Amino acid sequence: MDNYFITKIPYTKLNTKPSSLKVVRFINKGLRFLKLRYMLSPVDTTVDMNTIEQRINYYHLLNQVLVGQVEGDVIELGCFTGQCALLFQKVIEENQSNKTLHLYDSFEIQFSEKRDIKKVLLESFQSAHLKAPILHAGLFSETVPAKLPKKLCFVHIDCGHGGNVEEHKNILLDLFKEIYPRMSAGAICVLMDYNDPQINGTGHNANPGVKLACDEFLADKPEEIILLYGNQYYHAYFRKQ
Ligand SMILES: C[S@@+](CC[C@H](N)C(=O)[O-])C[C@H]1O[C@@H](n2cnc3c(N)ncnc32)[C@H](O)[C@@H]1O
Repeated sequence: MDNYFITKIPYTKLNTKPSSLKVVRFINKGLRFLKLRYMLSPVDTTVDMNTIEQRINYYHLLNQVLVGQVEGDVIELGCFTGQCALLFQKVIEENQSNKTLHLYDSFEIQFSEKRDIKKVLLESFQSAHLKAPILHAGLFSETVPAKLPKKLCFVHIDCGHGGNVEEHKNILLDLFKEIYPRMSAGAICVLMDYNDPQINGTGHNANPGVKLACDEFLADKPEEIILLYGNQYYHAYFRKQ
């Protein structure tokens, strides 16, 4: 399986017209001339929920647990319209794996989306010719742990929306408590927005509650958090021992 699909719709939300590519090439030429060592890269942070670098990370991490036959299903806590979820299901299917994708969300936050969130998600799966995931609609306090699979091989937590830091931290701590014991040995948990400014530099720390919760939860555990380069967005993961 090649991974060029991550550059195309619906895995990216960018529908780049050939004329805009000409503009991008022109600007990049100027940037090269100025020796700034920066280029424009394909992400629109007003609509894209992940960057191309993060999609590369997700692709390899999920592939690893599938090829390694780690026991359990794949879940995402905070799926919104499913940009990450589509990639997860695509990788599951390309591996001819029988794992099920479970998605959890209140489906009540719109961000810049005007349409019905759940409907957009299901239509995207349909138009990408992917099997529909199992949706668990409601607040996590209603669906976790009640609707969690018994075993997990891959977990993506992405429930930040720039809200109250302490509240977000506590939501994550509650999730970790339920997810961690269900993760099989070798299972991976990816944390969107995990940002360590000492390593990542001084980018936009959108949801600082992620690092606070994760560091507190892992403090007495053998697992170690590993930061992954995501360009405009941040994330990190740990692998269950
Ligand atoms: C940044 S978005 C997720 C983006 C998604 N991973 C994607 O690829 O498009 C965060 C999501 O978390 C959900 N969320 C936040 N807190 C929640 C909670 N306590 N219970 C259920 N869903 C929650 C929001 O509804 C929102 O859709």
